Amino acid sequence: MKFATASVFVLVATAATALPVLQKRANPKGIDISSYQGTVNFNTVKANGISFVYIKATEGTTFKDPNFSSHYEGATNASLIRGGYHFAHPDSSSGATQAKYFLAHGGGWSSDGITLPGALDIEYNPSGAECYGLSASEMVSWIKDFSNTYHSSTGVYPVIYTTTDWWKTCTGNSAAFASTNPLWIARYSSSIGALPAGWSYTTFWQYADSGSNPGDQDEFNGTLDGLKKLALG
Ligand SMILES: *[C@@H]1O[C@H](CO)[C@@H](O)[C@H](O)[C@H]1NC(C)=O
Ligand SMILES: *[C@@H]1O[C@H](CO)[C@@H](O)[C@H](O)[C@H]1NC(C)=O
Ligand SMILES: *[C@@H]1O[C@H](CO)[C@@H](O)[C@H](O)[C@H]1NC(C)=O
Repeated sequence: MKFATASVFVLVATAATALPVLQKRANPKGIDISSYQGTVNFNTVKANGISFVYIKATEGTTFKDPNFSSHYEGATNASLIRGGYHFAHPDSSSGATQAKYFLAHGGGWSSDGITLPGALDIEYNPSGAECYGLSASEMVSWIKDFSNTYHSSTGVYPVIYTTTDWWKTCTGNSAAFASTNPLWIARYSSSIGALPAGWSYTTFWQYADSGSNPGDQDEFNGTLDGLKKLALG
């Protein structure tokens, strides 16, 4: 992911262990984009075999991605499955406040088979204290507040985008979300490595920050039918 305030994404590699490897050729492919990608030709992206797009909507409660609407409309026009994501700033306001801001600016969801549950992008602080100055239990409460507010409004739990390393460091490796929230792990490697506690599998994998299509490169861990089911709720 890219931040509005910084352009460096630091990925701390974790020790690789023998774990299942996604079949990169078979699973539905996706991308995630923000204003950094500017104009995207979604028909080309679709023709390249991409099935889904996550599009940056908001950050904190002060930033709306200026290209969200055109990205979302372009992806829709090209018959791509799509959803919005929110970059969390847990140090600036409550989880509920940020969920409402996200919901009001593109993060909504409906059971139409083409809208993915909104994603909460929670990861390294691009510009300040590690873990945004929150203790692990405060961080878990913040994420619960965001997640429950999103669920109350839409009926689905948000996808959680993170890295295993950040999750371990900043939530104390909480297993509190594994039974409710789909997981989206960033790991730029040929295998996904260890997952955060509780989750026995990942739903999405961001496996590279560049590739043959614009933005970060992702895949869905399942079939195209499974992806459509996620978009039906
Ligand atoms: C993205 O937003 C910028 C800033 O508002 C604007 O200049 C540009 O035309 C937008 N591009 C697209 C593809 O919407
Ligand atoms: C989406 O399609 C509509 C109808 O053809 C068109 O008016 C609009 O400009 C398209 N939007 C984008 C972003 O391509
Ligand atoms: C993909 O999902 C399946 C269950 O549907 C699971 O067995 C497998 O471990 C998952 N892969 C990863 C890398 O999480």
